[in-house]
Amino acid sequence: MPNLMEKTLSQAIEQRRATPSFDGAPIPDADLKKILEAGLHAPSGYNMQPWRFVVVRSEEGKRRLRGASFNQPKVEEASAVIVACGDADGWRNGDLEEMLRLGREAGMPENYAESARNNIPNYLANHPDLTAWLTKQVMLAFTSMMLMAEVLGYDTAPMEGFEQEKVREVLKLPLSYTVVALLAIGHLSGDDKFYGGRFNMARTVFDGEYGKPIKL
Ligand SMILES: Cc1cc2nc3c(=O)[nH]c(=O)nc-3n(C[C@H](O)[C@H](O)[C@H](O)COP(=O)(O)O)c2cc1C
Repeated sequence: MPNLMEKTLSQAIEQRRATPSFDGAPIPDADLKKILEAGLHAPSGYNMQPWRFVVVRSEEGKRRLRGASFNQPKVEEASAVIVACGDADGWRNGDLEEMLRLGREAGMPENYAESARNNIPNYLANHPDLTAWLTKQVMLAFTSMMLMAEVLGYDTAPMEGFEQEKVREVLKLPLSYTVVALLAIGHLSGDDKFYGGRFNMARTVFDGEYGKPIKL
């Protein structure tokens, strides 16, 4: 049964913790679909959607992924682990055409489509740091998924503790893929971790220019 008691976004943001341990109960497909769709709704530069996700749910799959993730137990304990990747070659391999096709279907002006067809390959082929570009896009989708999971009553754990080449091998990823982060989803088992606190706005937010404190 999918969970029908959704949290508000404010509750989800406030209550979310990086979950230390999961109970391993399976996640219903309807919930998983809603979580994935939340990610796919995220914005991306030029709407190029260079993200790709591998959902790992089987016991064997999670065990192998754990082996590529510094043996972190929660990779195996989670109901599902979403491996968030960016594809550096998506735009060369049909994504640009698909983005334009979808856009045109929804009323994209023809002059925009024409200039996008030139500008996007030019921008991406000459990008000084494509991995940074991919990471930026993928983490937006990742965050939407994480928050949707929390809204649906799941607990989550974002993870960067994995070995790129090992994950690539376990999941049979193409060379153009960069693994950006892992999102473990499930239900907390045992005690939650302490809340580590957050820096005060005085340290992290400026009003209009660097160094000027914001008063709200
Ligand atoms: C991108 C990212 C990668 C992380 N990687 C790991 C990880 O590999 N293992 C782990 O135990 N926690 C990991 N964390 C969890 C952080 O340690 C945690 O979010 C932080 O301490 C704040 O705690 P909170 O999320 O419970 O508020 C990661 C968090 C983020 C955002």
